[in-house]
Amino acid sequence: MENGKKVVTIAYGCQMSERDAETLTEITRDAGYKSSDQLETADLVIVNTCCVRESAENRILGKIGELKKLKEKNPNLKIAICGCMVQQPGALERLQKRAPHVDIWAGTHNLSDFSVLLRRAEQEEKVAEVWQEPKIMIESTPLAEKGKLHANVNIMYGCDNFCSYCIVPHVRGRERSRNPEEIIREINYLVASGCREVTLLGQNVNSYGKEFSPVYDFADLLHHVDQIPLLLRIRYITSHPKDLSDKLIETVAKGEKLCEHFHLPIQSGSNFILQRMNRKYTREYYLSRVQKIRDLLPQASLSTDIIVGFPGESEEDFEQTLAMMDSVHYSQAFTFMYSKRSGTPAAIMEDQIPLDVKKRRLQRLMGVQNQVSLEWRQQMIGKVYEVLVEGPSKTNPTRLAGRTRGNELVVFSGNPAIIGTLVNVRIVEAGSWTLVGDIERS
Ligand code: 5AD
Ligand code: SF4
Repeated sequence: MENGKKVVTIAYGCQMSERDAETLTEITRDAGYKSSDQLETADLVIVNTCCVRESAENRILGKIGELKKLKEKNPNLKIAICGCMVQQPGALERLQKRAPHVDIWAGTHNLSDFSVLLRRAEQEEKVAEVWQEPKIMIESTPLAEKGKLHANVNIMYGCDNFCSYCIVPHVRGRERSRNPEEIIREINYLVASGCREVTLLGQNVNSYGKEFSPVYDFADLLHHVDQIPLLLRIRYITSHPKDLSDKLIETVAKGEKLCEHFHLPIQSGSNFILQRMNRKYTREYYLSRVQKIRDLLPQASLSTDIIVGFPGESEEDFEQTLAMMDSVHYSQAFTFMYSKRSGTPAAIMEDQIPLDVKKRRLQRLMGVQNQVSLEWRQQMIGKVYEVLVEGPSKTNPTRLAGRTRGNELVVFSGNPAIIGTLVNVRIVEAGSWTLVGDIERS
């Protein structure tokens, strides 16, 4: 079906957005496009957008502006803007006015229809489709790209939690779980083409299967994926602390390929703020979950997401978040300033926090977390960890890089022939972001 045309796909935001971008690339492949990273020679540019924070939207608007200049040089270029930003209530009209040079606008539920939109755009038509709900079976999107060591696999779509700050439930719709047989089939297909590690994706994987009868939950799915031959590692994101069951922690503890890494977004350490965020747990409950993990898996790594400057957050509330960093010893934390998202309850709450206060709190939080992460890496020195060798190190291509089961990045010397295999590495040094190690000779 090759027609000599080239497509560049750019994804902003979370792994789900990246996975959607892969699906879009696959759809264009069927329409005869070859994937490329050279914007200058592209016939089609697809941007899969994110709207979780204003900063992401601003970056994307900047990119759409750059693409206008590219189109002035190459009037045959087609531009497609897809995903969460387009799906926001009322956003399409505003975006269309601002960027009339865009050829295709498509919401999060319109991926399945993208080949039709593309064909219409190729006939010089400007097209825009934003369905309010998904219209087709969620299984019928193309499979992830073949031949890579790591793959993202959607297990569910949407979110029902409605955290008061978050736009995601408004742009990705209600929770829908994929059929387990389809998920296993997709992973088998990926493994047959060389994939050795999968990350199972969902906004809240811990509530996977809640609509299934007879009962089949996330722990059951993990147990089944763990049986797939040749697959070496299984990761998953994101877990909501309120739904982290004992059964899940026990399944990970018993599993062979299930990595001992828990990404458990806490968002805030203050019960007052957690309640205003509609997170449905307390700091005490969160700490009890952490304790359960530590009891069963003393070596497990924990990472988190934190928002500072949520409306009404006092200095005391913020201090309680800082205290959590010391209690939990996160290996990594993704930290954000609260960003007002219109249409969410928090956007109209009183006591919005001034930007300078948010910035100051973010700086302090990052300072504390950098120290905690360093201490976490330092306690790894001298111990031996199983590492999946991913390829040459990005910072020093003469060395190799890989990840521990806890998702810590390690750099070491070795023969490139071991890429894609598991090796044991003794940690000898802990840098500010990575670890340095030596392969253990057996
Ligand atoms: N402002 C700042 N951060 C946000 N997140 C989600 N919504 C917002 C917002 N309005 C963060 C949360 C979530 C992560 C993916 O993004 O921490 O876990
Ligand atoms: Fe947003 Fe909360 Fe759903 Fe995560 S769980 S996507 S933060 S609403």
